[in-house]
Amino acid sequence: MTTNSTASIRLVQITDTHLYADSSSVLVGMNCEESLQDVLSLIRKEERDLVTALCTGDISQDNSKASYQRFYASVAGLGIPQYWIPGNHDEMTVMQQAVGSDNPCFSKSFQLSGWRIIMLNTHVDGQVYGQLSAAELHFLAQQLQAAKHQHVLICLHHNCLPVDAAWLQKHALVNSDQLLALIDSHSQVKGVLFGHIHQDYERNRNSVLYLGSPSTCIQFHPTKNQFALDQCNPGYRWLELGSDGVILTGVKRVSNKRYQVDFSSIGY
Ligand SMILES: [Fe+2]
Repeated sequence: MTTNSTASIRLVQITDTHLYADSSSVLVGMNCEESLQDVLSLIRKEERDLVTALCTGDISQDNSKASYQRFYASVAGLGIPQYWIPGNHDEMTVMQQAVGSDNPCFSKSFQLSGWRIIMLNTHVDGQVYGQLSAAELHFLAQQLQAAKHQHVLICLHHNCLPVDAAWLQKHALVNSDQLLALIDSHSQVKGVLFGHIHQDYERNRNSVLYLGSPSTCIQFHPTKNQFALDQCNPGYRWLELGSDGVILTGVKRVSNKRYQVDFSSIGY
């Protein structure tokens, strides 16, 4: 990491919490409520001067109102605004019923200092893969047109660059070409942040940083072609957005703890 001499703002990404209505339920052996609380404790210990939490989908595993309400209250404990997009496991209508459709957490575009943050919905009903609808692509194009003089960070649930794990790549964003074409023609886009892949991922493509992040629960093995879990602990991503358009970022994980996980699982 290099030292950033310009003014910057610090954010966290919290992703793929996969909560259930019943906080004692487990996902392939793991209690996702417990691991989320551990990650939030880690954030409170490690982070200072946070301005916001970006929550990039798969908030719920069972799409229950109770899980969304518990997630909202937990993240609100950080004392900073939170912004949500749905993952493949989430349904926007239920999310809105849970915390109110006028809740600011559903803002699709907002300004943070000299940055424009754009939250895109890639959910496709009944599917694990993601897709940007024509309306969503149109919204992004409009936003980029209006944010010519801001640095831009785009957030979405599904990965728009390939991962090495073949089973996971089958569930990626299917029209990433359209997204990448828009990004390529707008040099103010500095970063793209996604969840879904449950692993630390960082690629530089045409001077844009593409970032995937650990889940707050189970971790996917980055290179196995069949479903396989990684031994890494849950975690979060921090981001520092500089006034010069530079993004500093890294991943922090819960340490000194072993979780109950069924590592022999072949899916979930
Ligand atoms: Fe997920």
